[in-house]
Amino acid sequence: MHKKTTRAEDIRTIPEEWTFKADEVAENFDAHVRSQLPWYDLATRAVAHIARHYIPPSGGLVYDLGASNGNIGRALAKEIVGRGADYVAIDDSEEMVAKFDAPGRIVCADVSEFEFEPFDVAICFLCMMFVPLAKRGKVLANLNRAAKPGAVIIVVDKDLAPTGYPSVVLHRMTLAMKAEAGVSPELIVAKEMSLGGIQRPTDLRDIRDLLPWKPVDFFRFGEFYGIFAEFPSQQAYVQVRGYNE
Ligand SMILES: C[S@@+](CC[C@H](N)C(=O)[O-])C[C@H]1O[C@@H](n2cnc3c(N)ncnc32)[C@H](O)[C@@H]1O
Repeated sequence: MHKKTTRAEDIRTIPEEWTFKADEVAENFDAHVRSQLPWYDLATRAVAHIARHYIPPSGGLVYDLGASNGNIGRALAKEIVGRGADYVAIDDSEEMVAKFDAPGRIVCADVSEFEFEPFDVAICFLCMMFVPLAKRGKVLANLNRAAKPGAVIIVVDKDLAPTGYPSVVLHRMTLAMKAEAGVSPELIVAKEMSLGGIQRPTDLRDIRDLLPWKPVDFFRFGEFYGIFAEFPSQQAYVQVRGYNE
């Protein structure tokens, strides 16, 4: 049974240069995401709801990219166990991998180097914004190649802010929600500074361009979005790719 870390965050647990490859970050992960992203549990449930619709009744392969301690795996536990699905979590932080607690298995690997098998569901929940910008196209291309007919790719990530006054409004919304969740101003600033150059938004327009099948929006809060792209049926798949698997 996963025990959530609810210890209030301490400024000393925020590395000067943000990384998930640190014991104190892995230790505080649950408290950290919930205070920084007040909608984290709601978005997790939405992702699990969508994924459930694409996990075949008998088996199937589910990838969770940047899985951290297995949040999505726990949200999907009923389907993974009940349907006998193979849930493969991927994370490149040994410290996060050591905290993994979900049905299925975790592989310590860089998602941009990972060789995906034909899958039914691939989830990128708050991961892409930490993958170096130059490697994101490769990750999506590899996922596109390995998606089975009827598969789904689900992405939740931070968008590029719009320009002008709306960008100020949206950024202040992010700050206001953190403050309302009880994060101290000192900690909010420390985290923002720590993320410089390490967390970079993934322009939603790039995601739309790189996924061949029109993604559907399911989530938006301030600068964050959620989309899912369903791959076509066998017939359309053969027409587009010119081969059958
Ligand atoms: C914000 S957390 C993701 C949250 C998680 N998906 C959840 O449901 O709680 C980002 C995760 O992505 C991982 N990550 C970042 N870059 C990665 C990469 N290139 N390959 C694999 N994992 C990566 C980090 O180690 C971290 O655990």
